[in-house]
Amino acid sequence: MALTASDEQALNLAVEIARNGVGAVEPNPPVGAVLYAGDQTLACGFHGAYGGAHAERDVLSRVESVPPAASLAVTLEPCSSSGKQPPCVDLILERGVRRVVVGEVDPDPRHEGRGVQLLRAQGVEVEVAPAGLVPAELLDEFRRCLSRRRPYVILKWAMGLDGCWGPRHGKDTRVSGEAARSEVHRLRAAVDGILVGSGTVVRDDPLLTARPPGPLVLRRIVLDARGRVPRDCRLFQTTDQGPVLWITGKGRKPPEGVEVQKVRDCRDLEGEVLPRLLDLGVRRLLVEGGPSVAVSFLKKGLVDRAWVFVAPVLFGGEQARGPTLAAALEELPDSLRPRVEDVRRIGCDAWFKLSWS
Ligand SMILES: NC(=O)c1ccc[n+]([C@@H]2O[C@H](COP(=O)([O-])OP(=O)(O)OC[C@H]3O[C@@H](n4cnc5c(N)ncnc54)[C@H](OP(=O)(O)O)[C@@H]3O)[C@@H](O)[C@H]2O)c1
Repeated sequence: MALTASDEQALNLAVEIARNGVGAVEPNPPVGAVLYAGDQTLACGFHGAYGGAHAERDVLSRVESVPPAASLAVTLEPCSSSGKQPPCVDLILERGVRRVVVGEVDPDPRHEGRGVQLLRAQGVEVEVAPAGLVPAELLDEFRRCLSRRRPYVILKWAMGLDGCWGPRHGKDTRVSGEAARSEVHRLRAAVDGILVGSGTVVRDDPLLTARPPGPLVLRRIVLDARGRVPRDCRLFQTTDQGPVLWITGKGRKPPEGVEVQKVRDCRDLEGEVLPRLLDLGVRRLLVEGGPSVAVSFLKKGLVDRAWVFVAPVLFGGEQARGPTLAAALEELPDSLRPRVEDVRRIGCDAWFKLSWS
C-alpha cells in the first residue's frame, strides 16, 4: 500500500525532529519518530544522545497508551537487536503499535530489513517509504562509515587572517577565541578519536581531552613515524584521563599505559592507519594535527568534513613564518575542493563548515 498524505506529513515531521540529535548521537545515526492518528500528532520523539533512548522509546514514553488507530512513523527501521538499548521492535510490540511507517531500511547489512520482517511476522502492518522521502544527508555519515573501510573524518584547524596556524615562537600557541575553543570541546565530546602528528605534540604538548567529556570513550592518537614524541609529554602522562594510542614505525617500548600500534608506514593512511583505527572501534575521527597531517588527509580525499576557524589575528613578521596550509599543500585537484555547508560568526572568529562528497 502506498503512503497516505498523513503518513508523509508525519514522516516529514519525524525527519525535522531527528535533526535535534545531530552532533549528539554520532556515530549512531540521528532518528526521529512521530506517533499520529490521521492528521493528529499524538507525540514526537528522537534519539537525543549516544547510548541514550532511541527515537521509538522516546516517543512511546510520551503516551500512556497507544490508540488502536495510531501509526508510528520512524525515519529509520527499528532496531531488532540489543546494543546499548533493548531492541525497539520488542517495545513496539509490547506497546501494541499496529502500524509502522519506516522512512528507510537500516543500511547496515547486519540489520537490513530484520526489524521490518520481525514486526510483520507479529502482525504489525509496516510500510516502507519510497526512496528520497527521508533526505539522504540524514544518514550520510552513517552510510559513509559503513561503506568505506575507515572512520568518518572531521578535520579541524584554526588560523589567523594571514593564514598562519600559530606563532612560530612562544609558549601560547592558541589562535582562536574562547567561544570557538568551547565549540571544539563540544566536537571532541562527540567523537571517539582525536588524531595529531608528532609535530603538534612536540610543539604544543596538548592534552587532547574533551572538557567536559562526552559519552564516547575518546582515544587520543599520535602519528609518530620516527618515534620522536617525548616520553614525558602530557599525552603520555595522562592515560588515567582516557586511552592514548601511539602509532609509530619504530619499535620503541611504549610508556606505561600507552597503547601502541606499530605500522610499516604512518603515511599510508588509507591502507594501514585508518583501517587499523576502525578495527580498534574508532568510527568518528577528529583530525586536529598541524598542516602536515591535515594535508596528508586532504590530498588523499580522506576528509569528510572540516571545521575551520579564522581568527582576527595577524601574526606578522617572524611569527607569521609559523605553520601554514599553503606551505604544505602543493596542489589540490578540483575534485578535492570543499563544499561550504555553513559560515557563522562565533565570538570574534569566523567559522566555516566544509564538506566533501
Ligand atoms: N592552528 C591549528 O589548528 C593547529 C593545530 C595543530 C597544530 N598546529 C601547529 O602546527 C605546528 C605543527 O605542525 P606540523 O605540521 O609539524 O604538525 P603535525 O601535522 O601534527 O605533525 C607532523 C608530523 O607528523 C608526523 N607524521 C606521521 N604520519 C604522518 C602523516 N601521515 N602525514 C603527515 N605527517 C605525519 C611527521 O613526523 P614523523 O615523520 O617524525 O613522524 C610530521 O612531521 C605547531 O606549530 C602547532 O602549534 C596548529
